[in-house]
Amino acid sequence: MIKFQPAAKFNKDGILVLLDEGEVKKRDLAGIPNEGIRQAVRSVIEAGQFQGEEKELFPVVFQKQVILLAGTGDPVRKNFTTLRVIVRQAALSSYFKKVNDIEVILPNDDAVVRAVVEGILIGAYRWDRYHSSSEKPKITPPYAKTYTLAVAAKKEYQDIVTTCEGVTLARDLINGNADDVDSEHIEGVIKDLIKGNENIAVEILNRRDMAAKGLHLHLAVNQGSRKEPKLIIVKYSPQGKTSPYTAFVGKGITFDTGGLNLKPSGHIETMRCDMSGAAAVVGALKNILALHVKRNALFVVALAENAIGAGAYKPGDVFRGYGGKTVEIGNTDAEGRLVLADAIAYVVKNYKPVRLLDLATLTGACVTALGYDYSGLVSNHDEFANEVIAASAKTDDRVWRLPSYPEISEAIKSEIADLKNVGFPKGAAGALTAAEFLRQFVADTPWVHIDIAGTAFVDGRGRLYYGHGGTGAGVRLLTEYLKSGR
Ligand code: BES
Ligand code: MN
Ligand code: ZN
Repeated sequence: MIKFQPAAKFNKDGILVLLDEGEVKKRDLAGIPNEGIRQAVRSVIEAGQFQGEEKELFPVVFQKQVILLAGTGDPVRKNFTTLRVIVRQAALSSYFKKVNDIEVILPNDDAVVRAVVEGILIGAYRWDRYHSSSEKPKITPPYAKTYTLAVAAKKEYQDIVTTCEGVTLARDLINGNADDVDSEHIEGVIKDLIKGNENIAVEILNRRDMAAKGLHLHLAVNQGSRKEPKLIIVKYSPQGKTSPYTAFVGKGITFDTGGLNLKPSGHIETMRCDMSGAAAVVGALKNILALHVKRNALFVVALAENAIGAGAYKPGDVFRGYGGKTVEIGNTDAEGRLVLADAIAYVVKNYKPVRLLDLATLTGACVTALGYDYSGLVSNHDEFANEVIAASAKTDDRVWRLPSYPEISEAIKSEIADLKNVGFPKGAAGALTAAEFLRQFVADTPWVHIDIAGTAFVDGRGRLYYGHGGTGAGVRLLTEYLKSGR
């Protein structure tokens, strides 16, 4: 839990002091009101034990308090991503093992406060629901229950805290077992979020509705599964129903086996993350409601399971989607673009949003191109793309733009159908050809596609300020876009 207090009090059992190299050099300890602590810190600095270098940590014990000095490095060349990393490192450090409440001493600066809040709430997030020991007294960090930042509370700061709750929801949905967090579970989570809200209408298409309406691409992907496919459209109208809508559409493959083009070991184990786009849309929905953002929006999740079995859809077969186009299945593992094609076509036709943004763990090729720290962005509209990029820069929810151009549509032509769901041989430019496939269904709608295949999930000990598992990529971006954008 995060709190704010206007002045440093140094009355908690743990104190985290952020100091840069300049402050250390100048022995600038004016922020420390307690004479005894100030002396203890001064002697550590005078002994040369703490310089304030980036990521440097030094604990000072004063009576019953643990004061952790954390270096933030060069005061001029500020890196706010690194600041989040530093705060995470401190929040998880074993020096705070016996500490319940931490006061954080930090500069009074909006970007710093944002980074510190996110360093704590995103950085110290840990998925431990499946550890038996989680019932027992805490043996793993984060140890502290509250973090009190020594800066006056502001609406903007509270909004950052609220936004992180949507990030946490998305991460919990991603991390839970694929058979628990299935389409019905996600439907339930959405219904709980919107319950009682007068500005909301919801449409839910199940298997039968999809068959009646012709969403045969979505149905094809789910053919091998016992789970119900779902297209859920939450229509949020705080500006009234005649004002324009922005649509967010999330890929929600609750598990991606690859289908008959089965994924091999090493690629299949983390595929419960393949609903991370949908999780981000749900996280953003939670935030937009909690923040009372007054912008009309459509929150859309396309849910299916790409399972293997006797009923599974087959390579080489052709399906006609809701948009009317026929698609040859070149590879059953290129399923995300199929469910998204139907979802996008359905939303564009029936809801006519003025802009549409889709989020998807769409391609391994995007991971090859950009790695794990930047999501790939493809767009048909520079102004919309630039607004999203601005929201990305503000929130540190990183995106990098990749090209979209007319000639690339050659790659997804089929001999036997209007389109095929794979691109060039050997997967050349696979992130671009997948995006191009989606673009075929947006008509003239200004569109941004964000490929979060690399950023949505950490398979390892950690990366940047994210621990193992889902990162909530896209939640802060969507929340900020709607909050500050149009
Ligand atoms: N869900 C995967 C993409 C993915 C890869 C997400 C790694 C997260 C991490 C997607 O459905 C997929 O399998 N894409 C194929 C497409 C190919 C068959 C054209 C891929 O990228 O290999
Ligand atoms: Mn796949
Ligand atoms: Zn997939």
